[in-house]
Amino acid sequence: MKEQAETIDEILDRYPGEPRYLISLLQDIQAEHGYISREAMTLVCGHTGVPLSRAWAASTFYKSFSVEPRGEHTIKVCLGTACHLKGGTRLAEGLERELGVKSGCTTKDLRFSLDTVNCLGACALAPVVVLDEEYLPNTNSKKVKQSIKRLDAE
Ligand code: FES
Repeated sequence: MKEQAETIDEILDRYPGEPRYLISLLQDIQAEHGYISREAMTLVCGHTGVPLSRAWAASTFYKSFSVEPRGEHTIKVCLGTACHLKGGTRLAEGLERELGVKSGCTTKDLRFSLDTVNCLGACALAPVVVLDEEYLPNTNSKKVKQSIKRLDAE
C-alpha cells in the first residue's frame, strides 16, 4: 500500500494548481482514501491557493465528502416518508444500538459507518436499507442484522 502523502501528491498532479479544481481534487481524494484528512486538505489548499476555511466549508457542505475516516462498509437507512411510515426510524435506532454508534458515525474498529438518508428512490420497496451497494428491500431488523453479520464474517 502506498503512503497516503505520495498518493495525494499523485492526485494533485492530475490538476493544474487553480482554485476551480478544488472540488475535483476533493472528489478524487474522497474516492481513493474514503475521507479527506487535515493533511490532505492542507496540501490541496497549498496546491490550489484556496483558503483552508473555504475548503473546509466546501467539504462539510457536500454530504458526499467526509472529513473523518469512514468504515470499511457503509449502512444507509432510509428515513424518507415511505420508509419512515414503515419503520425506518426503528430500524435506524436498532442499528445504532447493535453497532454502538449514532447515525453519521463509524464504529471504533472502522468496520461500519451508519448513515441515514432522505430517500433512496425505491419507495415501493420501503423500508429500505443499503449495505454498501446492496439494496435490502422490505427489510426488517432481523434481516439487516443477518446481512451485517455476513459482511462482518468476510
Ligand atoms: S422513502 Fe425510502 S426509498 Fe423513498
